[in-house]
Amino acid sequence: MTLIYPRESLKANPPQLYPGYGSTVKRSPTRPLVLIPHTLSEVTGPVYGHDKVNPGDHDLTKQHAGEPLGERIIVFGKVLDEAGRPVPDTLVEIWQANACGRYIHVVDQHPAPLDPNFTGAGRTATDAEGNYRFVTIKPGAYPWGNHPNAWRPAHIHFSLFGHSFLSRLVTQMYFPGDPLFPFDPIFNSVPDEQARARMISAFDLDQTIPDWALAYRFDIVLRGRSQTPLDTEH
Ligand SMILES: [Fe+2]
Repeated sequence: MTLIYPRESLKANPPQLYPGYGSTVKRSPTRPLVLIPHTLSEVTGPVYGHDKVNPGDHDLTKQHAGEPLGERIIVFGKVLDEAGRPVPDTLVEIWQANACGRYIHVVDQHPAPLDPNFTGAGRTATDAEGNYRFVTIKPGAYPWGNHPNAWRPAHIHFSLFGHSFLSRLVTQMYFPGDPLFPFDPIFNSVPDEQARARMISAFDLDQTIPDWALAYRFDIVLRGRSQTPLDTEH
């Protein structure tokens, strides 16, 4: 039995062309898309990358000799499919700027310091109930040159595989109450207000650790399996 994935995913995705976000003008297709049938190579996929996920890979504060500067936070949540079912054993990868808003990347040369104790990348796999958890530091906002004095709201990039290439999701997690939301064309290119709200994590006092870390919950919904099986008898 082969499972069919819907073409649209909760109408959550931004349009390919969103003029306020300058790069989309250069890279969006100008002709109608060609729909390709879903075959075995789309509805299956890797569970992990090339190497196994190690137990410490989820902690971005323990990758160097010392601890990174910044506000230590726990980022956790549940990965669900569109039917609300947990997605276990799926790879969750994150990357982010440091507390000053600087990435370790040759393109990022804006005048904010790098942190020798912070690389800004981590990964983990969801457990049997679809839960994941990272320990990291809160990233800073950073300028990006899209429009006059454009600064991105603080965010963490997420990549998830789900159980097939079609359920792969690359998204960004934001922090509640950020004053930069109204000015950010990347955030606002997601057309639906409720979908934008799903990119904002929630402060969770119960999951904080006293005198050590604050905590933010970020549940993620992947494009999941529809309930309609493809007839493969022939
Ligand atoms: Fe970023």
